[in-house]
Amino acid sequence: MKVVVTGGLGFIGSHTVVELQNQGFEVVVIDNLSNASISVLDGIEKITGKKPFFENIDLREKGSVQNFFQKHSDTVGLIHFAASKAVGESVGNPLLYYENNINTLVYVLQELIALPQANFIFSSSCTVYGQAETMPITEDASVQPAMSPYGNTKQIGEEIIKDVARVTNLSSVLLRYFNPIGAHPSAEIGELPLGVPQNLVPFITQAAIGLRKELSVFGNDYPTVDGTCIRDYIHVVDLAKAHVVALQRLLDKQNLEKVETFNLGTGTGSSVLEVIHAFEKISGQKVQYKIVDRREGDVVQAYANTDKAREILGWNTELSLEDALASAWKWEQKVRS
Ligand code: WQD
Repeated sequence: MKVVVTGGLGFIGSHTVVELQNQGFEVVVIDNLSNASISVLDGIEKITGKKPFFENIDLREKGSVQNFFQKHSDTVGLIHFAASKAVGESVGNPLLYYENNINTLVYVLQELIALPQANFIFSSSCTVYGQAETMPITEDASVQPAMSPYGNTKQIGEEIIKDVARVTNLSSVLLRYFNPIGAHPSAEIGELPLGVPQNLVPFITQAAIGLRKELSVFGNDYPTVDGTCIRDYIHVVDLAKAHVVALQRLLDKQNLEKVETFNLGTGTGSSVLEVIHAFEKISGQKVQYKIVDRREGDVVQAYANTDKAREILGWNTELSLEDALASAWKWEQKVRS
């Protein structure tokens, strides 16, 4: 069965392509290479023995999207990763985010609902919760006003999907990721942040390997165990597997509603300092850091209630924070070798 993965050469996309191929799906990857390298295709092939069919398409070009679906009308499902995702960048350049994250979603949905099967997995984010009042966060926690245009595009995207599913053949699963980290254990694929990493774990591994002088810890005066922010760090391989489970659910018509929403996290929160110390323990590398001011837009804590994913979706994480950090470190060493 043919499945399309947009943004399939990106961090989470490439790991999901591996898991789809492992389950026997025929995968077609769409990527415009704006934030991914074509060499990721080779990494995927080294892991699974199959190179996915690849089309270099910019989903902002409506005609290109239409042409693609004319060629691939036998698609049974689509997993949509393609989007810009840098929170800080989105504040300074909101129209880039509304064009790249919303227009593309509309063009893809317009073509998908014209197919016999319109099964759609959407890459959403715990960002939609803002600073949730109650921990762990459940899927029915209120969606707070977005703290950035990036977060707003995820909220708007979810609403667009619900509106479309109400009146078309579209069935969808919204997957709200917590903090994806790590890399495939083979170290053939992993996270390749362009420029200075914005996220914690790639910065840690780059500091540990000597690419960055020291890590800035954004604030240690939060009301938490050690004053630093708490997040739910989920191994990207666990996260990728959840996408295959969600797609299979729609293909088997097991979904209870036209649009279902699941948090994807471990259910455990870790502070910034706890992550640093865990990394030092598994890598044997010291991470130089300094405490600086808080970062604008950070929430104090966010970690997932995993009951719904476990009991309804039938998925839960199998890998630990240490597994994820060890795989990130192995990948960093491989990339820099
Ligand atoms: C984690 C913690 C920082 C870097 C973002 C997006 C979210 C998702 C994941 C796309 C925070 C601290 C970080 C550093 C630090 N992306 N930190 N020094 O902000 O929780 O989530 O990435 O879907 O949508 O919002 O992740 O890794 O940036 O930060 O102290 O150099 O690490 O303050 O507490 P975040 P992060």
